[in-house]
Amino acid sequence: MTDHAAAALELLPVPGLPEFRPGDDLAGAIAQAAPWLRDGDVLVVTSKILSKVEGRLVRVPADLEERDRIRREHVDAESVRVLARKMRTLITENKLGIVQAASGVDASNVAGDEIALLPVDPDGSAASLRRALKGLLGVEIAVVVTDTMGRAWRIGQTDAAIGASGIRVLHDYAGSVDEHGNELAVTMVAIADEIAAAADLVKGKLGAVPVAVLRGFEVVDDGSTARDLTRPTEEDLFRLGTEEALAQGRAEAVLMRRSVRFYSSEPVDLAVLKRAVGAALTAPAPHHTKPLRFVLVREKRAELLRAMREQWTADLRGDGFTEEQIARRLRRGDLLVEAPEIVVPFLVRDGSHAYPDPRRSEAEKTMFTVAGGAAVQGLLVALAAEGLGSCWVSSTIFCADVVRSVLGVPQDWEPLGAVAVGHPTEPLTPREPLEGLIEL
Ligand SMILES: Cc1cc2nc3c(=O)[nH]c(=O)nc-3n(C[C@H](O)[C@H](O)[C@H](O)COP(=O)(O)O)c2cc1C
Repeated sequence: MTDHAAAALELLPVPGLPEFRPGDDLAGAIAQAAPWLRDGDVLVVTSKILSKVEGRLVRVPADLEERDRIRREHVDAESVRVLARKMRTLITENKLGIVQAASGVDASNVAGDEIALLPVDPDGSAASLRRALKGLLGVEIAVVVTDTMGRAWRIGQTDAAIGASGIRVLHDYAGSVDEHGNELAVTMVAIADEIAAAADLVKGKLGAVPVAVLRGFEVVDDGSTARDLTRPTEEDLFRLGTEEALAQGRAEAVLMRRSVRFYSSEPVDLAVLKRAVGAALTAPAPHHTKPLRFVLVREKRAELLRAMREQWTADLRGDGFTEEQIARRLRRGDLLVEAPEIVVPFLVRDGSHAYPDPRRSEAEKTMFTVAGGAAVQGLLVALAAEGLGSCWVSSTIFCADVVRSVLGVPQDWEPLGAVAVGHPTEPLTPREPLEGLIEL
């Protein structure tokens, strides 16, 4: 691929164009104002005049509130998605996939009682204008249709191409080598956008010069259009504004958790696990206590699971189950054998209050137990937020002495089950929230 740079360029404004109204002959007016157009020229046209001749104007009343309401209605109607909202600014994706403020709905350079919507098909408009000018002047030109846009990380707006015909809109340098021998792997220059921005330097915003001509650029027509400049949403690293992304993350945090029973072989990063436990430990607890202890069971895992299994088998035999039924039941415990990591949460009722009567003693006990549940749920949610799957299983609750004895933890540590942790085989997705608030 050769360089896109031209030896020299001329930017020629096209003055003397009339104020356009719906139905006007744009090509005729341009042919009259710029009879000097030549083969190879790039005609750069402000989308606003296409909006005008194509009748994309909306009457608005003088009343400011009403005018704003109508404007907002049209912004909504033109957009397919809102990416970000800050004060009165709305960043949207419009039906063409263009991301910009207010779906391109604009009140500049139109009559005081009108607003302009973007042309419905700016690539199509560019192609028609090109054809019409070939018919009128016999010239083979390219057409770029522009709109003014803000940029996410830089102050100020520049013009960009929202329509194009007869010009390769992107110059892809993939595979090219610079003079230092570096291969350009990702450089792809948005030629049509650069032309749009350059032409604005002679068109301006106030001088009624909506058309300019770029001369001297080596135009290649590969059939591409401005649509090819729109990044597909799925490749967009910034498909939501920061506030919106944070809000979505907050709203989905709890909904990402589900019981995951199958894990990939990818190891769990201990730092991530520590972070999730740290988050879980912030759970509410009675009397400002910290009654949870999360134990990551590694070295003693096989021994623990064997001992728990023996107890479980003995319990089931005591219940009168057959050996076959017992074997089937025990298979449910395989989850803890296969999970990449297991964490056993313990409840320690340190700091619980003593009462002389059973009613309040029982209530105090419940209070700590529910705090244990809150913290374990916190761990599961925090793990899900990190993309980790988990399943909270009950088994250790049923053999607390065995667990304490194998792990060598104090007698007053009450196991609250076990949490299997690992990378899910299927990525986690948020679930639908459920109905269920009971109002009395
Ligand atoms: C205290 C407790 C004990 C549980 N014990 C087990 C268990 O022993 N084995 C298991 O597969 N799931 C166990 N679960 C997970 C539930 O089966 C699971 O939460 C339920 O099916 C709902 O599915 P979800 O977690 O995906 O919403 C337990 C959950 C809780 C809260």
